Amino acid sequence: MTDARNLRTAGDSPTPSTMSVHDLAKAYHRGSEVVHAVQGVTFDLRGDQVVALMGPSGSGKTTLLNALCGWERPDAGEVRWRGVPLPEPASLPWHDVAVLPQDLGLVEELTIRENVELPVRLGSRPDRERTARLSERAKALIVGLGLEELADRAPAEVSLGEQQRAALARALVLRPALLLADEPTGHQDARWGRGVFLALRMAAREGAAVLVATHNPEVLRAADRLLSIRDGRVRETRAPTPGSRGASASGSGGGASTGSSIRSAGSALG
Ligand SMILES: Nc1ncnc2c1ncn2[C@@H]1O[C@H](COP(=O)(O)OP(=O)(O)OP(=O)(O)O)[C@@H](O)[C@H]1O
Ligand SMILES: [Mg+2]
Repeated sequence: MTDARNLRTAGDSPTPSTMSVHDLAKAYHRGSEVVHAVQGVTFDLRGDQVVALMGPSGSGKTTLLNALCGWERPDAGEVRWRGVPLPEPASLPWHDVAVLPQDLGLVEELTIRENVELPVRLGSRPDRERTARLSERAKALIVGLGLEELADRAPAEVSLGEQQRAALARALVLRPALLLADEPTGHQDARWGRGVFLALRMAAREGAAVLVATHNPEVLRAADRLLSIRDGRVRETRAPTPGSRGASASGSGGGASTGSSIRSAGSALG
C-alpha cells in the first residue's frame, strides 16, 4: 500500500488546496474492541475537481467524510482550510461547506421545495437581492434534478431517489466551496446517476472542491481523481491526468434529457 505521505499535495498544482488533511485518525470503541475506522489519512482537495472516494462497505468512507466536516471529532490529524490550520474540523467556515449525508437528513415536516430552500432561509445575511438570487438557484436546481412536480410534497411522499436528489439540491444551493457527498447516486437509476454526476460536475465548475464517496462505475470513471480507502487507510489510485478535468459521464445508458436539464440548470445558475 502506498504510504499516505506520498500522496499528491497542493504543491503539485498551481490551484491552491481548498482543504488538506494530514494524518487524520478516528477510532470507535465498543467495549474492549477498538475499530480504527480512519487512520493516517493524508490528502488534499482542490476547487474545480471531483474526487471519488471508493472502498468496500465498512472501509471508513462515511467516518472520513464526517471527520472532515466536523460531525465526528477526529482523534488525531491536522485539517487546513485554504492553507490555514483549523483548531478542529468543526471550525470550518460553515457557509462554504455542504454535506450530502448517506442518510440524506431531510426535514420531514418541510416540503421538498422548503428543504432545498432551507440553507437560503437560514442565511445570516438579510440581503434581499442575494436571497432572491439564491431562491432562483433553488428553483433551477429543483427543475434540473427533476423535482419540479414533487416540490410541494413531504419527503415521505416521494421516492428515495427523489429524496436523495432533493438533498443534493439543498447541498448545492449556496454554491459551496467544499461539497462532501456520501454515495449520492446510491438510490438513483442509471439515468439519474448521470444527472447527479452532472450536478456534481457543475458544482466543481463553479469552483467547489467535491469529494464523493461512491461505488458508481460511471462516477469513478468520470471523476478527476480517485482515492481508494480500505480499513480506514486512503491511497490515491488515480491522480489527475492532463485533460481529465471536465471529463463527462458520457458512455453507456440514457440520460440525455437529464443531462441537458442539469446543464440548462447550470447555465441558468451561471
Ligand atoms: N458509531 C460507531 N461505533 C462503532 N463503530 C462504528 C461506528 N460507526 C462506524 N463504525 C465502524 O467503523 C467502520 C467504518 O464505518 P463507515 O460507516 O465509515 O464505513 P463505510 O465505508 O461508510 O461503509 P458503507 O459503504 O456501508 O456506508 C466500520 O467497521 C463500522 O462498523
Ligand atoms: Mg457509509
